[in-house]
Amino acid sequence: MKAFVLDRYGKAGALRPADVPMPELRDDEVLVQVHAAGVNLLDAKIRDGEFKLILPYRLPLILGHDVAGVVAQVGSRVQQFRLGDEVYARADDFRIGTFAEYVPVKEASLALKPKGLTMEEAASIPLVALTAWQALVEKADLKKGQKVFIQAGSGGVGTLAIQLAKHLGATVATTTSTANVALVKSLGADVVIDYKSQDFEEVLRDCDVVLNSQDGKTLEKSLRVLRRGGKLITISGPPDPEFGKEIGAPGFVKLVMRLLSAGVRRRAKNRGVGFSFLFMRANGSQLGEIARLFDAGAVHPVIDRVFPFESTNEALAYVEAGRAKGKVVVKIR
Ligand SMILES: NC(=O)c1ccc[n+]([C@@H]2O[C@H](COP(=O)([O-])OP(=O)(O)OC[C@H]3O[C@@H](n4cnc5c(N)ncnc54)[C@H](OP(=O)(O)O)[C@@H]3O)[C@@H](O)[C@H]2O)c1
Repeated sequence: MKAFVLDRYGKAGALRPADVPMPELRDDEVLVQVHAAGVNLLDAKIRDGEFKLILPYRLPLILGHDVAGVVAQVGSRVQQFRLGDEVYARADDFRIGTFAEYVPVKEASLALKPKGLTMEEAASIPLVALTAWQALVEKADLKKGQKVFIQAGSGGVGTLAIQLAKHLGATVATTTSTANVALVKSLGADVVIDYKSQDFEEVLRDCDVVLNSQDGKTLEKSLRVLRRGGKLITISGPPDPEFGKEIGAPGFVKLVMRLLSAGVRRRAKNRGVGFSFLFMRANGSQLGEIARLFDAGAVHPVIDRVFPFESTNEALAYVEAGRAKGKVVVKIR
């Protein structure tokens, strides 16, 4: 099958288009014929070697986490999926590889694709929607009437997190640049802060939840816009000791995580604010619930660009440039 392969870690290195053997299917996996693959910053960060400690992959490696496609084969223990089903997923860590014609996905990580969406639209959803769900529903337990600050509302995570928070009945504040103010308003944002001309710290106070996806300075400022008892959830680091435990990291990695987040955890504690790091996980049953939200029209995909398969490197470069409005997708067939 055709695939885009990472041979060597390196900043902005190119993936190699190659003909590779079909993946071997395990008993609990479904082989998905890939129709479209979503592109995430995580793909570029793994390629650059930034995730070596958290996700120690062996090279060569096919990159790509998000997939929408058709079931081509099922493992002997698979019960919920049949040949021909239209499905979508965030592929499992250490089993990624959606920039390819076929990818094996654990049954537990797969869901039927939202019926009303195209393959490209469905492929744009899994990683960012699961991130929004795991941050706002699982970690924050966001409730009707609460105030949430979602940074970078025009990005992949932001466009879905705003819509999910509105669906949950929260009031949403977000940051974006002037060009994207109309987009985030159309998604339901109640308070829009143009980060080029305004400082969110001067606009927001007493937030119940902040979803932080930006740099360390933004993280520190976020602490100050939360009420006592509020929750700061960061998806852009630093990792906390609980995350080290969750992934069963070796002792020295756990120590690094403890040290990296020691300062912000201490300052959060002093302010009576909860701090946690989220690294999203594959989850088929959550994707099933998310599909229902799309089918009901409660949330909509936001796609910036669709690239042809042969332009996978260009798609990654486009995402890395940091200006995507919603999601970038590679069309595979
Ligand atoms: N831990 C996890 O599980 C997890 C999961 C998903 C993502 N992430 C991380 O979360 C971050 C966001 O991911 P993403 O996929 O949403 O990124 P993305 O789609 O690439 O974000 C691009 C958007 O960010 C906006 N932006 C850039 N700088 C900004 C700023 N200073 N303030 C507000 N908006 C800004 C841009 O809008 P303008 O053009 O208007 O500036 C653009 O629309 C990344 O670091 C990613 O690696 C982590």
